[in-house]
Amino acid sequence: MEALDEIILLERFESRINAGEKIEPKDWMPERYRKQLIRMISQHAHSEVVGMLPEGNWITRAPSLRRKISLLAKVQDEAGHGMYLYSAAETLDVDRRELIEQLLSGQAKYSHIFNYPTLNWADIGVIGWFVDGAAIVNQTMLAKCSYGPYSRANLRICKEENFHKRQGYEIVATMAAGTTEQREMVQDAVNRWWWPSLMMFGPSDNESPNSAELLRWKVKLHSNDELRQRFVDLTVPQSQAVNITLPDPELRYDKKTQHWNFGKINWEEFWNVVKGNGPCNRERLAARQKADDDGAWVREAAVAYTMKRRMNR
Ligand code: 3HC
Repeated sequence: MEALDEIILLERFESRINAGEKIEPKDWMPERYRKQLIRMISQHAHSEVVGMLPEGNWITRAPSLRRKISLLAKVQDEAGHGMYLYSAAETLDVDRRELIEQLLSGQAKYSHIFNYPTLNWADIGVIGWFVDGAAIVNQTMLAKCSYGPYSRANLRICKEENFHKRQGYEIVATMAAGTTEQREMVQDAVNRWWWPSLMMFGPSDNESPNSAELLRWKVKLHSNDELRQRFVDLTVPQSQAVNITLPDPELRYDKKTQHWNFGKINWEEFWNVVKGNGPCNRERLAARQKADDDGAWVREAAVAYTMKRRMNR
């Protein structure tokens, strides 16, 4: 294609996005836009599926049938979110098998947060409150992104995510109002999950190599730091309502900016976990590899059935 054609097409593409139009799979798009979306959507899908592991651990150990049913529903939802997102990624002419192999080989990223262990039931409450709470802040924005299939997938995810956060926050509120041991358990879980949850929004804006392009093409509508700040502003009052202390002595409300100022994030810990050295990275990938091995016969049977159907036509 001539360079001039590319420039005209890019101008048309960007004016569509700036007019608030959705880009659909068959529309012209810059290769960089397609590659960025495949990167982001596949990591999002991987995060949903790997995210089932830390919580799935506690389904058989839930303290009541009601808690078991809501956790079971949440974990099943996450599987569905993964499927919507792999389908959204496939609209960009990439095969989900290729994406899954990139995950299993350690080449693809998924949210670092799922590499932390769930030590007791309080973790299940705090994950719903913090991790799903952070995901809602991010996904509410992504539901308005410029790529149609990703925007629609996030719209549907957000509807279920709100239930995830509420069931988590109810567990926290119940334990925070419970026995001394329960209060101590939930405070300990908050102390372990607070800072890794702030890291979920990615590195600071000045350290984010992808944000500029994603913001320009309205895949992201807010920066990592803006979303992180929004999450902190939402969560501090919720912690006060259940009389739980967030583990940040520098947390201060700034009347001028009307935001909660917070302390420094330990980015060394973040990159260490992203690079594969978190407490559960190996365990999570081993679990995904085992699930993939155990499911090979289903994939082979489905392919054989489809081939047979085609031959009998
Ligand atoms: N964990 C692992 N890697 C992370 C990360 C995290 N929390 N945050 C950033 N990174 C990686 C990025 O992938 C990028 O590496 P890459 O270029 O090799 O892909 C690098 O760190 C630099 O970060 P950037 O800020 O430049 O990357 P992005 O612009 O892509 O922003 C993001 C990071 C905010 C996570 C963005 O990718 C995003 O919004 N992704 C879609 C949503 C998503 O993936 N959420 C994960 C949680 S899903 C979830 O919580 C499920 C819920 O049901 C519980």
